[in-house]
Amino acid sequence: MHNLLKGKRGIITGALDQNSIAWKVAEKAHEQGATFVLTNAPIAMRMGEIKNLAEKTNSEIIPADATNVDDLANLYTKAQEILGGKIDFVLHSIGMSVNIRKNIPYTESNYDYFMKGIDVSALSLHKMLSVAMKMDAISEGGSVVALTYMAAQRTYPFYTDMADIKAMLESIARSFGYHYGVEKKVRVNTVSQSPTKTTAGTGIKGFGDFYSYADSISPLGNADAESCADYCITLFSDLTRMVTMQNLFHDGGYSSTGVSFDVMDKFATE
Ligand SMILES: NC(=O)c1ccc[n+]([C@@H]2O[C@H](COP(=O)([O-])OP(=O)(O)OC[C@H]3O[C@@H](n4cnc5c(N)ncnc54)[C@H](O)[C@@H]3O)[C@@H](O)[C@H]2O)c1
Repeated sequence: MHNLLKGKRGIITGALDQNSIAWKVAEKAHEQGATFVLTNAPIAMRMGEIKNLAEKTNSEIIPADATNVDDLANLYTKAQEILGGKIDFVLHSIGMSVNIRKNIPYTESNYDYFMKGIDVSALSLHKMLSVAMKMDAISEGGSVVALTYMAAQRTYPFYTDMADIKAMLESIARSFGYHYGVEKKVRVNTVSQSPTKTTAGTGIKGFGDFYSYADSISPLGNADAESCADYCITLFSDLTRMVTMQNLFHDGGYSSTGVSFDVMDKFATE
């Protein structure tokens, strides 16, 4: 498949370094003929790696804190100026929990940190959609994808407050997906990704052990960042123009598997 995104203009958030899921999405979107701008929080910019991606994909960088609606309005204005028209696809690839960073157990969550996590990781999607809708910045039939994790449906104790925050993110995708669908046929979906070795992923205590467990449960093994990017590309393309308000599992079959022979063998008594 070539040029699946030819002529499409996009905004890609969240590329921090080459392990980031967003980084792979940018590479794939470029391969498939899209033009786009990259954006991240100003603090992530200072690390400088995003500049290499911008050069490689021939794209410009517009700093924006996704919790700040003025930054987001500026992002859509500049993106449309640079790309020469309305935006066809948006990747929301933003997640951060201070409670996780500071290793605070779920039952003792700090509420200021909890609120910060909600703002950065869930409300930011609402803000990105709301600002776009007010500015009429996304073209008819456009596609917005946000990344999530299955702890929104089932308990993974190490995921602490991010489990509740992801549940909210998925709910916002459904709720806003209704309104944006009616108004402009804009699709809004979440992709629920396997554990992936990125800065956000490996920052979670116990991630390494869990990564191996998920890999041995999933019939296809864990989905890596590159395959996640491929899936996002299909969702940005016209081939999925009637898919909206869905939480789509991209996890090698993990979410539908009760147990695998591989894991049973580890507990074998005979
Ligand atoms: N890695 C995993 O195991 C995994 C699994 C499922 C879902 N996800 C989700 O994928 C998404 C991307 O994470 P990743 O794993 O690629 O890690 P990552 O650390 O590379 O990306 C997270 C990004 O969020 C950005 N960010 C944080 N605060 C921000 C703000 N205020 N404004 C704008 N950007 C901000 C960071 O700068 C970073 O680029 C997240 O939503 C994450 O929860 C990750």
